[in-house]
Amino acid sequence: MTAVALVTGAAGGMGRAIVRRLAQDGFSVVAVDLGEAPLRALADELAGEGLEIQPRVVDLTSEAQLVELVDGLPPLAALVNSAGLFDERKYFDLGQDDFRRMYELNLIAAATLTQRAAARMAPGSKVVNIASRAYLGARHHAHYVASKAALVGYTRASAMELAEKGILVNAIAPGLIDTPMLRALTPERMAAQLALQPTGRAGTPEEIAHAVSFLAGPQMGFITGQVLFVDGGKSLGGSGA
Ligand SMILES: NC(=O)c1ccc[n+]([C@@H]2O[C@H](COP(=O)([O-])OP(=O)(O)OC[C@H]3O[C@@H](n4cnc5c(N)ncnc54)[C@H](O)[C@@H]3O)[C@@H](O)[C@H]2O)c1
Repeated sequence: MTAVALVTGAAGGMGRAIVRRLAQDGFSVVAVDLGEAPLRALADELAGEGLEIQPRVVDLTSEAQLVELVDGLPPLAALVNSAGLFDERKYFDLGQDDFRRMYELNLIAAATLTQRAAARMAPGSKVVNIASRAYLGARHHAHYVASKAALVGYTRASAMELAEKGILVNAIAPGLIDTPMLRALTPERMAAQLALQPTGRAGTPEEIAHAVSFLAGPQMGFITGQVLFVDGGKSLGGSGA
């Protein structure tokens, strides 16, 4: 039977590349996002490349929808939590609702999905969480930073909890990647962010998909609880000067 992979945020910049790559790797991919139209467009585009996927419209902040989704699928061989929210707000302008919005998707949806899916996963299955290099600390989005640090914590805890079931759980920490999410940055903030990335360019969604393929693939059997930085060296710190 074909191994099933579920990818959230599938219509997003990274999600699309991850779905394509896992489908090319031979997974039967369930592609989850909010909007019917972008998912349909993705499915049509991939069908043109000879890749068939299963698009599913689900609001991941709804526990009922999320549970119905997972329970209606065969056990997953791979779960990729890529759906995420990002925006920039000055530190002293942040309110409780800003934190709640971030945590609801970036942590709680990923955690609920992981827990629900892992209960039925076979040994050798994988969970890959798309965190962010920002979890180490960044200016102008403390709510996002905190939610991604929480996701890394949950990744590590899940790796320990699920090791006895033979499930491996890891996170990827992307640096600046060229996707629609970057529209939240002003040109000045974008330039400031790029200046911190020693390689001097934004990464591509395909470069993230390549790392997901490695961590989610059947040959990966002995890495768990780790954070793989795919960030052009941004996590090295310092100005490089
Ligand atoms: N782009 C970057 O530079 C960057 C850097 C570091 C980390 N990340 C992380 O990578 C992941 C993917 O980011 P991206 O750049 O592809 O973002 P994106 O904005 O292009 O895609 C995010 C997707 O999540 C979906 N989504 C939002 N709320 C949802 C909900 N309630 N239910 C279902 N789907 C929902 C959106 O519709 C969208 O398609 C995110 O977790 C993000 O935080 C991105």
